[in-house]
Amino acid sequence: DWTSESFIEEQIASIREKVGDDKVLCALSGGVDSTVVATLIHKAIGDQLQCVFVDNGLLRKNEFDSVMDLYTRDLHLPVRGVDASELFLERLEGVSDPEKKRKIIGNTFIDVFDDEIKHDGDFKYLAQGTLYPDVIESVSFKGPSATIKSHHNVGGLPEKMKLDLIEPVRELFKDEVREVGRALGIPAHFIGRHPFPGPGLGIRVLGEPTKERLDLLREADYIFVEELKKQDLYDEVWQALAVLLPVQSVGVMGDERTYEFTIALRAVTSRDGMTADWAHLPYEFLAHVSNRIINEIQGINRVVYDVSSKPPATIEWE
Ligand code: XMP
Repeated sequence: DWTSESFIEEQIASIREKVGDDKVLCALSGGVDSTVVATLIHKAIGDQLQCVFVDNGLLRKNEFDSVMDLYTRDLHLPVRGVDASELFLERLEGVSDPEKKRKIIGNTFIDVFDDEIKHDGDFKYLAQGTLYPDVIESVSFKGPSATIKSHHNVGGLPEKMKLDLIEPVRELFKDEVREVGRALGIPAHFIGRHPFPGPGLGIRVLGEPTKERLDLLREADYIFVEELKKQDLYDEVWQALAVLLPVQSVGVMGDERTYEFTIALRAVTSRDGMTADWAHLPYEFLAHVSNRIINEIQGINRVVYDVSSKPPATIEWE
């Protein structure tokens, strides 16, 4: 029978045996999966682990600082924060195709890790928080045109990195990873976080993710999530997100005509992200969030709610 305790014990033993005296680099994303992996590996091999948390300029509002706090103060992980936001945004200039964006973001992560490796030296392993559904959706469906979305954290590393992968939660579903995280003592508010894609807000600004558009989206996302938490709805949904549609439409503010962007709100219920239903959030709640977004964010004059399920829609819009 599967229990989180026996899983932890087995993983610790097998990580120790595999790693020996070598060093492991762990890429932290700020999400539950990589945090569980880092905590598990830290338990197994202590300071032979070095973590890196990259600010790619595609994170949510306040995300980098608040997550760094958790890593260092609460979890005592050996982590270095790297601000690479300018590099990421530069490389995304003029790019609007979703898969191209994923590829660029994934490759830039690899370049940043490569620099870290040169900086810190002699790592033999790279640890990642790949989950079972990531493996299924990216690899098993793979074919020239059949990949659903190329989740950038799956699919191996370029040869030049010469690192072996450690993916201790590769066979688990999200709810199992959360159980393991709780058993490892990671704070409940963190364990309950919604999934957040590796390419971050880069695939939630449809089209080219400029700094200006990312900033608009950050504010909308912040209001949506803050209100979900305030109204005790956050834990009722699998994932909630805002999408910036780079389409301008006409509105009116006071006596003025406006011509601004639209925010789409999306919330879904799901067990594993592989299928999902749109969440039936209360109308009054949606009205309140919509009012706040339109009144507080200059540049947004319209909010819509996504009522599509997966399949045939996907959770993310890109
Ligand atoms: P979709 O949009 O395919 O999303 O229904 C299913 C789950 O996967 C997340 N997602 C990603 N995660 N890299 C990631 O690490 C990606 O490129 C990516 N695309 C989607 C999505 O947020 C949802 O939880």
